[in-house]
Amino acid sequence: MKEMVKVDDYAKQITEALSKGILLSTNGDKFNAMVIGWGALGRVWNMPTFTVYVREHRYTKAQLDKTGEFTISIPIGNPDSRINQICGMQSGHNIDKAKEAGLTLEEPEMIKTPGIKEYPLTLECRILYSQEQELPRIPEDIRERNYPQDVDGTAPLANRDAHTMYIGQIVAAYIIR
Ligand SMILES: Cc1cc2nc3c(=O)[nH]c(=O)nc-3n(C[C@H](O)[C@H](O)[C@H](O)COP(=O)(O)O)c2cc1C
Repeated sequence: MKEMVKVDDYAKQITEALSKGILLSTNGDKFNAMVIGWGALGRVWNMPTFTVYVREHRYTKAQLDKTGEFTISIPIGNPDSRINQICGMQSGHNIDKAKEAGLTLEEPEMIKTPGIKEYPLTLECRILYSQEQELPRIPEDIRERNYPQDVDGTAPLANRDAHTMYIGQIVAAYIIR
């Protein structure tokens, strides 16, 4: 069962959860969820939005580009740390994360990407805009810390690549009960 919610009522909870990791899911070639720690709940072009930042070699990146949508899943209370470990340290390039992490998928309302019962606060988003960040425009100290160029960009936790920003219009917000 879904309880529809006003997303603004959960702004503090969402921002606090981000610092520990929430899930960004796609449903292109298959369902996949990755942990994100960067994001922004906001308002753009007079619409409620959620913006995510995804590095080039993530499996998620190609799926976002293919489907034009994503679902954000936020825990309420303390989630199983195994979910964060699998979805944040392994890649959909190599494994079926829904199966490995034991995720219970919930039929979506407005898009094709399911929610996740274990992370019940759910935002369904349609991508309005995407843009790759230009590394030279990032302050040097931040760039050196976040984008070291001497690592392999294809490893699951690799951090060499720039992020692409995706602004998603929130088209449904609910809690899976
Ligand atoms: C706490 C945490 C926060 C993360 N935040 C982000 C993020 O905001 N953007 C990003 O591109 N990767 C982030 N990652 C890394 C991805 O979750 C990780 O590379 C994942 O394996 C990618 O999965 P995929 O290849 O299936 O897309 C984060 C990882 C952790 C553990």
